[in-house]
Amino acid sequence: MGGVKLDELALYDLTRDRLRQLLSNQFPGDFDLENAITAYAYWVCTAMRNHGKDWDTAVQEYIDLALRDAVIESQAEQAELELLRHELHQFSGPLLDVGAGWGRFSSLYQEYGLQAIYTEPSELGCRLLRRNTLCNSVRCLGQSLSFLDRVFTGVVIGWVLHHDAPDVPAAAILGEVARVMASSGRLLSIEPLSDDFDTQKWCSLVESAGFEVEKLVEFFDLPESKKKSEKYACLVAVRRSSGYPLEAGTTTQSARGRSRIHE
Ligand SMILES: C[S@@+](CC[C@H](N)C(=O)[O-])C[C@H]1O[C@@H](n2cnc3c(N)ncnc32)[C@H](O)[C@@H]1O
Repeated sequence: MGGVKLDELALYDLTRDRLRQLLSNQFPGDFDLENAITAYAYWVCTAMRNHGKDWDTAVQEYIDLALRDAVIESQAEQAELELLRHELHQFSGPLLDVGAGWGRFSSLYQEYGLQAIYTEPSELGCRLLRRNTLCNSVRCLGQSLSFLDRVFTGVVIGWVLHHDAPDVPAAAILGEVARVMASSGRLLSIEPLSDDFDTQKWCSLVESAGFEVEKLVEFFDLPESKKKSEKYACLVAVRRSSGYPLEAGTTTQSARGRSRIHE
């Protein structure tokens, strides 16, 4: 791509077109290419923004990854959605999706008639959410949720916590999730397991934030040669009634003091 700096949403659309062109006819007939390029184009843009990659390099890297992993990742996603379907039966709105990306789970929430609010820190994710008519979206970090205490009866957080880095601090994010959740509210967390983020670390983070882990289900095993992290898992937890930072009637770090990310 030439030297012109494109708006990120325009870049995302251009990336989708390029991926579609390069990946067409590379997969079995029943493979959902549009679904795959939705994710891969997002990751290309994220890699450019967060790691300063140039477009051609990032596109080529994700083409290589897609050719290697996209079919198996799509099987993993089917298993993930099946499991979420099963768990969402027990949810009632309002539900918060933390680090929602472009709103990958939105059709599931709609299927179950769940009112969902999406939070996402990246401008691109928020613009995609709005373009996908998911207008209940707020641009904020998971560690600084702009909501009052105890307003949600359910929270979903997918593929965020395992990063556990200074800009994605898992304990602080879970602390905020616990703050905005009503007592007995249900948490659904989906993550890939690895040596750095194993079940023990995950459960301990969740329990320390004030939840009781109800179950942890490994729903997909990647074949050994594919990647370092080989299992994908879903954790379900319930908000304990004790362990709120302050008693009812007081606001911890109130939503007023928490700012949205300004675009
Ligand atoms: C791998 S994507 C997962 C998106 C979506 N949850 C899904 O499962 O498709 C991780 C998302 O976390 C967001 N993210 C990054 N830092 C975050 C933070 N500190 N708090 C909340 N979300 C964050 C990223 O912008 C990205 O959209």
